[in-house]
Amino acid sequence: MGTAKSTGLSAGQSLSATGTRCAPAEEELLRSVEAIAARHRGKPGALLAVLEECQRVDPHHYLSENTLCLIGQAMGEPLSRIYSVATFYSYYNLSPQGDHVIVVCRGTACHTRGSLGLLQEALSILGASEYREDEEASFTTDDKRFTVRTVACFGQCALAPVVAIDGVIYSRMTSSALKSAIEASARGGKK
Ligand code: FES
Repeated sequence: MGTAKSTGLSAGQSLSATGTRCAPAEEELLRSVEAIAARHRGKPGALLAVLEECQRVDPHHYLSENTLCLIGQAMGEPLSRIYSVATFYSYYNLSPQGDHVIVVCRGTACHTRGSLGLLQEALSILGASEYREDEEASFTTDDKRFTVRTVACFGQCALAPVVAIDGVIYSRMTSSALKSAIEASARGGKK
């Protein structure tokens, strides 16, 4: 494996070779993005892997505007391409995520078996009754403890309705089981 090439990023605002001007960034963030990019640069699927790892190491598991910009610099890609990839895949979060993430399936099978009620139940428990799933990608509580979002299908339609909490899939979810699972997550503290 070849030696990773430095992109020469600095803590100050800079104009990259791609013409992208990134806002000033913390030295730690710069180092982190560059190190991640260096590990993947030149490999198949490098950009997806860099986005995934940058999201994973972020304290709130999302890709900030500046992180996307720095990824563009580090990968030598225009910001427009970074954005188009990050927004195409629902896996990537563009807003801060809570310590606990509840994903409610809103596909047809789950919808016909009550997933809307489950979504409303979760939102109600977390004080987010004003959330509009058709307008917002997700809802995160002010204290950043919980995020609620939806998914088009988990691919487990026979087990509908399906809800994932902190990556654990719950099939044939009921309102009472959802309430218990959220309360257990709340008691469990940060993931
Ligand atoms: S519609 Fe919910 S798992 Fe497929």
